[in-house]
Amino acid sequence: MTEAILLVGGKGTRLRPLTVNTPKPMVPAAGVPFLTHQLARAKAAGVDHIVLATSYLAEVFEPYFGDGSRLGLHLEYVTEVEPLGTGGAIRNVAAHLHSGPDDPVLIFNGDILTGLDIPALVDEHNTSGADVSLHLSRVEDPRAYGLVPTDGTGRVTAFLEKPQTPEEIVTDQINAGAYVFRRSVIDTIPTGRPVSVERETFPDLLSSGAHLQGMVDSTYWLDLGTPQAFVRGSADLVLGRAPSPAVPGRCGDRLVLPTADVAPDAKLTAGTVVGENARVGAGARISGSAVLADAVIEPGAVITDSLIGRGARVGARTVLTGAVIGDGAQVGADNELQTGVRIWCDAHLPPSSVRFSSDQ
Ligand code: GTP
Repeated sequence: MTEAILLVGGKGTRLRPLTVNTPKPMVPAAGVPFLTHQLARAKAAGVDHIVLATSYLAEVFEPYFGDGSRLGLHLEYVTEVEPLGTGGAIRNVAAHLHSGPDDPVLIFNGDILTGLDIPALVDEHNTSGADVSLHLSRVEDPRAYGLVPTDGTGRVTAFLEKPQTPEEIVTDQINAGAYVFRRSVIDTIPTGRPVSVERETFPDLLSSGAHLQGMVDSTYWLDLGTPQAFVRGSADLVLGRAPSPAVPGRCGDRLVLPTADVAPDAKLTAGTVVGENARVGAGARISGSAVLADAVIEPGAVITDSLIGRGARVGARTVLTGAVIGDGAQVGADNELQTGVRIWCDAHLPPSSVRFSSDQ
């Protein structure tokens, strides 16, 4: 049996301002709640028991995923009264694990989309005899991340806070949010208070002489921390760049869920997804975007790299680029909204209210 813990709680659980009552892991990416992709990938890698460690809006997970049998998994849910941080959340679910003291337990951050070779990480862990093994990703600009340098054998030598100066960028390897813990190591995390794995558990383990092994895997990796990244991730799932067995349908330029209604001359490209019961009017052009369930795109709208929330409406001829339109929001006809704009859930923007281009 291989077990995993999935971390889906904490402070940044909402994808603001897209949703009010849906935690990020339940926001659809490529047509299904994002979490489905992580669960399906874990299952495909041989995991059969997953404990979901949640805190905020926890009540939405169980009604959807139930006992996990639909995905061929045994799923359990543990809810923290107060968020315990990443390490505290791992410790808090220890009693639900069945593994023996030396067995490997997988741990995944719930807001990462990755093509990580999970069995390879477990193999590396078993071969190296490490106490904890970490997936490390290489990024072009590591300034926004904690750095994890390793020696010639892949052994982690330090955990460094976000670099402030160029001299502090000693590596381009970052913690990619997937770990294997030796089961007994989980019991060494303190109970009953918030603990951060990155800031406390890993540095403490290092200084006590534990063996932390890094595995650099340069596969697809995306932190879905922002709505813009979420749109990118959804499109990459549709395009097949981010591999997931849970994409409902064949990968390609577009994904239209069976109950959606798309006008024959509407053009959907670059990984656009149109969710359940959403409608796309005549002549609309949508590229690299996610249109969630029940949304309405009126004729002639032009939408690029944007996220359109559940039940939202985009008026005729409106042009959206890099926009996030919250659930239930209404953007009237003939508006032009550009990168970075966020329309709050249920807000109404009257027709012809905003434009960037010059008058014709
Ligand atoms: P700490 O290491 O605890 O300080 O968290 P962080 O801020 O470094 O973690 P981050 O926000 O990057 O979250 C990583 C993953 O852990 C995400 O999937 C979060 O949903 C999850 N997470 C963060 N904090 C908590 C928590 O308090 N409880 C639970 N269950 N999950 C958490």
